[in-house]
Amino acid sequence: MEYCPLNIIEPINFNIKKKYSYIKQIINGVNFLHNLGIIHRDIKPENILCGNDGNFKIIDFGFSDLFSTFEKKKEALGSYGYFPPEMILNKRYNLNIDFWNIGIICFYFLFKFFPFGKSSEIGDIKQFDVNKFVKEYHFENEKYSFFIEKIKEIIYSCLNFDINQRGKDLKDIIKE
Ligand SMILES: Nc1ncnc2c1ncn2[C@@H]1O[C@H](COP(=O)(O)OP(=O)(O)O)[C@@H](O)[C@H]1O
Ligand SMILES: [Mg+2]
Repeated sequence: MEYCPLNIIEPINFNIKKKYSYIKQIINGVNFLHNLGIIHRDIKPENILCGNDGNFKIIDFGFSDLFSTFEKKKEALGSYGYFPPEMILNKRYNLNIDFWNIGIICFYFLFKFFPFGKSSEIGDIKQFDVNKFVKEYHFENEKYSFFIEKIKEIIYSCLNFDINQRGKDLKDIIKE
């Protein structure tokens, strides 16, 4: 693979329209892996690099594994601040856990902080009401309201505590 000068922390000050196009790339990349039966388990900005061609590349398959759609796993792997609830609670999970991390990245893109910080305590994760925060936050920039609404929808979908519903409507959301 070629040298990639940026990861997705850097574009934090890019405009919302651009960020939305990056998010779509990440979702398409994760769907591509899932269709190949690969679960990544460590989707985070440090593991998404931007090449000189302007396209994002998912790297670091250290925690990834082959996984069938119907299989359920229990190992807790990943990074602090990103562990989805079922991993923290030592419950069985499926491919949809990768969408939790996408939700965290989208939240970061919109609000410039990580919703759960570095915490992977279930109490902290439940205490911060992401949906309420996202709903009530007022954005000044009306020009980008379409993209802001799209990213909000992705956050709702990805940070869903119900793993079976998580990410289910992503394909529809990112159609436009
Ligand atoms: N092709 C590349 N171009 C530029 N930087 C890279 C490249 N591959 C890896 N890196 C840098 O090295 C870091 C660690 O690589 P990674 O494969 O994620 O290993 P680790 O398991 O240590 O996290 C990445 O977060 C990135 O900053
Ligand atoms: Mg890494």
